[in-house]
Amino acid sequence: MDYKRYIAERLPVDGVSVNEIAETIAVPPDSDMGDYALPCFRFAKVLRRSPALIAEELAQRFPVDGVIESAVAVNGYLNFKVNKKGLAEETLSRIGREGERYGSSSVGAGKTICIDYSSVNIAKPFHIGHLSTTVIGGALYRIFNFLGYRTVGINHLGDYGTQFGKLISAYTRWGNRELVERGGIRALNELYVRFHREAESDPALEDEARAYFKKIEEGDPECLKLFEWFKELTLKDVNKIYDLLGIRFDSYAGESFYQDKMQPVVDELREKGLLQESRGAQIVDLDEYGMPPCIILKSDGSSLYATRDMAAAIYRKKTYDFDKCLYVVAYQQNLHFKQFFKVLELMGKDWAKDLVHVAYGMVSLEDGAMATRKGNVVFLEDVINKCVEKAYRVIDEKNPDLRKKDEVAQKVGVGAVIFGALYNNKIKDVTFSYDKVLNFDGETSVYVQYACARAASVLARADAADLSLRETPVPCPQEFELIKAIAEFPDVVSAAAEKYEPSYVARFCVDVAQKFNKFYFDCKILQAEEDARAFRLSLTAATLRTLKNALALLGIGVPEEM
Ligand code: ARG
Repeated sequence: MDYKRYIAERLPVDGVSVNEIAETIAVPPDSDMGDYALPCFRFAKVLRRSPALIAEELAQRFPVDGVIESAVAVNGYLNFKVNKKGLAEETLSRIGREGERYGSSSVGAGKTICIDYSSVNIAKPFHIGHLSTTVIGGALYRIFNFLGYRTVGINHLGDYGTQFGKLISAYTRWGNRELVERGGIRALNELYVRFHREAESDPALEDEARAYFKKIEEGDPECLKLFEWFKELTLKDVNKIYDLLGIRFDSYAGESFYQDKMQPVVDELREKGLLQESRGAQIVDLDEYGMPPCIILKSDGSSLYATRDMAAAIYRKKTYDFDKCLYVVAYQQNLHFKQFFKVLELMGKDWAKDLVHVAYGMVSLEDGAMATRKGNVVFLEDVINKCVEKAYRVIDEKNPDLRKKDEVAQKVGVGAVIFGALYNNKIKDVTFSYDKVLNFDGETSVYVQYACARAASVLARADAADLSLRETPVPCPQEFELIKAIAEFPDVVSAAAEKYEPSYVARFCVDVAQKFNKFYFDCKILQAEEDARAFRLSLTAATLRTLKNALALLGIGVPEEM
């Protein structure tokens, strides 16, 4: 049951649509005031009356019934109390019916969303800087899928640019097949770092690197073979991490894929009179829009990151006919996206409005940031492994007899990394702290997982027959708070999609886990009598189902036991 709609449909307000009313209805922070509230402030203008008066009038008119028990006006708000028993019956039966699909919908049916995320750079280590795009993008991918959209996950690989010339130069000078085969991406990274160190005193290296890159572009077989090999090694390495994080892609078309698709873009820009020469380079002037020019071709004729992104956007529109194309990329690239979105708009692509830069803040580690060039980079794989190890130690200490400790530690450790990167509003800069993300009593995934294990263990001790309920009792406050929380799940998923904000789902998990724990400690479950017992067991099962669905959207698994 959609209570907000239910209320809105019974509350006609002149000049305001049912949808608008439904959207205005909120859940008050303090449930003593009501379960739902309609702030009447925004109607004051249309109705030309004070919000307080409007609330009073609406309260008089609202037909209370078996679903909504009361409607009371307080200081410009209209507060509703739902029939507790009705809500309990509705929610539990819906969750029972929908199971793994609870929270999903079909609003996205027939629509396509492209999500460009992770988009790692070839031959560079998968460092903590790529954690957010990977887990936020992965969560959005699952969330939109859950809402019925066709989702296309795209890993726009950074596989184009002079750095590959540098790498070939470094490899030829100081590397060999065996070294790289053994060391993988770490060996490649060391070669890259060495190149920069040596180039400081030997500038000729830069020229050599440029020459090598030119060879790649011209299709020199030796250079291409090396480049393809570096790419293969990188993908093998990052795929290990994607597997751990439950991440998948439908396309790995990276920057080099667009090599032969940029000329038509340049031609079209020229035809439309958008291209200008500036100091030998070809640019689109964006002065009028308060932005520096978007450079399309350098003076030597080579393309840029933006040129490739424009070709990619056009290709994606043609190939997938998306309704939206999201770019999950750090806010450092704000200007880049604003620029090339604008240029596409100026080209007359009306779909440029459907391109969205989903920007997020920086993740740094407690012990300082990193830079690939200098070499003091933090590998994501190491971060994950360290979390899994730490998780193992805590679990082993708390519950030495636990079965499948390795498996549990894996779920807990990986979950901690994901949740740590997802929990805050995505635009915030965050500092990753091992102790914080693995705190059993904090706002963490392990806290949520622990609540799940607790629920599972209660259910395991009950008989299936115990779940059959004859008459739903009127829920007590702890039960009711929990029911209200889990009933919000479908709305939370929609809001997370609408705002591109998986943190809503993460916060929802913590909220539900906290309410479940309160219920668990305050109310007897297995020792309760008959209907109360059956009801509490059903509520426990519904909570577990909801938390599992929510965590799954984030890519986090739930151990059966902890
Ligand atoms: N490879 C880029 C980086 O690591 C991110 C690419 C994002 N996607 C895009 N279409 N520009 O910074």
